[in-house]
Amino acid sequence: MLDLIDEAVKALREGHLVAIPTETVYGLAADASNRNAINQIFRTKGRPAGHPLIVHIAKPSLLLDKPHSENLDDAWREILLPWARDVSPATLALAKTFWPGPLTLILPKAKDVLTEITGGQETVGVRCPDHVVAQTLIERFDGGLAAPSANRFGKISPTTAQHVRDDFSDVSLLILDGGPCEVGIESTIVDLSRWDTHGPVILRPGAITQVMIHQALRNQGIDLPQSVEKVSTKGAPRVSGSLSAHYAPRTKMTLYEHGKLNQSLEILSRSIGEIKNLAWVHLADQLVNLADSEDILFLEKSKITEIIIPPNPEALARKLYSLLRHLDQSNYDLIAFQKLPMDASWDAVRDRLSRAEVGSGN
Ligand code: TXA
Ligand code: MG
Repeated sequence: MLDLIDEAVKALREGHLVAIPTETVYGLAADASNRNAINQIFRTKGRPAGHPLIVHIAKPSLLLDKPHSENLDDAWREILLPWARDVSPATLALAKTFWPGPLTLILPKAKDVLTEITGGQETVGVRCPDHVVAQTLIERFDGGLAAPSANRFGKISPTTAQHVRDDFSDVSLLILDGGPCEVGIESTIVDLSRWDTHGPVILRPGAITQVMIHQALRNQGIDLPQSVEKVSTKGAPRVSGSLSAHYAPRTKMTLYEHGKLNQSLEILSRSIGEIKNLAWVHLADQLVNLADSEDILFLEKSKITEIIIPPNPEALARKLYSLLRHLDQSNYDLIAFQKLPMDASWDAVRDRLSRAEVGSGN
């Protein structure tokens, strides 16, 4: 792997793209200081210009030797300042608590950050990924890597090297295989650029929750500004993950309320016609199964494949995109996915599923 990482460093320096593993999803990386390489990301992904990219940075080497050193603040500052105009106490508190990890911070951008990365905005997204291959690569490359998820625009994010190969089989691309992603869904995005009026604003939910963010800030003695109660979405930065149709399978997908599958199918079949091959996806802890379910009378059992998913959000997140990709390749004419519980711990997975539903079937 070390030879491959050196090859990747060389490719990046020459302005080529490299697919990299992270703990969340695989990324399609380019030298963040090379305008042509960044443009290549947009062309390869089919991503419209104006959708900003996240810059991936190395962790301070001090973290390895002296994780509790008082100089850690300075070390993070030094790493962030090429990208962020200033490094606030809240930024440092979240960096020290969650990095390396599945958190992206939106910060006021430094002067020299390319407009292609920021989408012309005054802010930049920065993340320090928690994956040994990504970290080794960034450290050896000795610069920031701009990387979106390594999928075609609007489609399902990749959580294995094979997913990347499947999506970009027509492109010559060095893919570093770091195994399946541990987290499985994209990083939490927190906007710190409007701190005085809004406090920390979650733009995309992920494994790091609002409760964890608030707790980390409190632990480091940072109070939220008084005005955070009156949060408005006006003037919010653009986030492509916030388009309602995203992460989408080509197969039509519907989210049904537990106990109301029959009803949903009846309604749907009026618009999509006879359902011959249904994927029925539900949580493992529900007292339903294909053998004795009253829920499924609308369809003959021979037309149904039952798929049972883990009843906890972390485990489901890890498997979600592999499952959606698998279902998409299996010739179902409909995926009926049970709506997930409403508690906050399910927010991130629920968010991805509802976008997948909106974008499905195209
Ligand atoms: O986990 C992740 O974040 C993965 C891995 C590869 O790091 N990356 C990822 O990148 O999900 P992408 O491009 O697929 O999604 C990044 C999101 C986009 O929705 C983009 O709009 C938003 O981050 N973003 C980036 N910079 C921003 C900025 N300055 N202001 C607001 N949103 C920003
Ligand atoms: Mg993406």
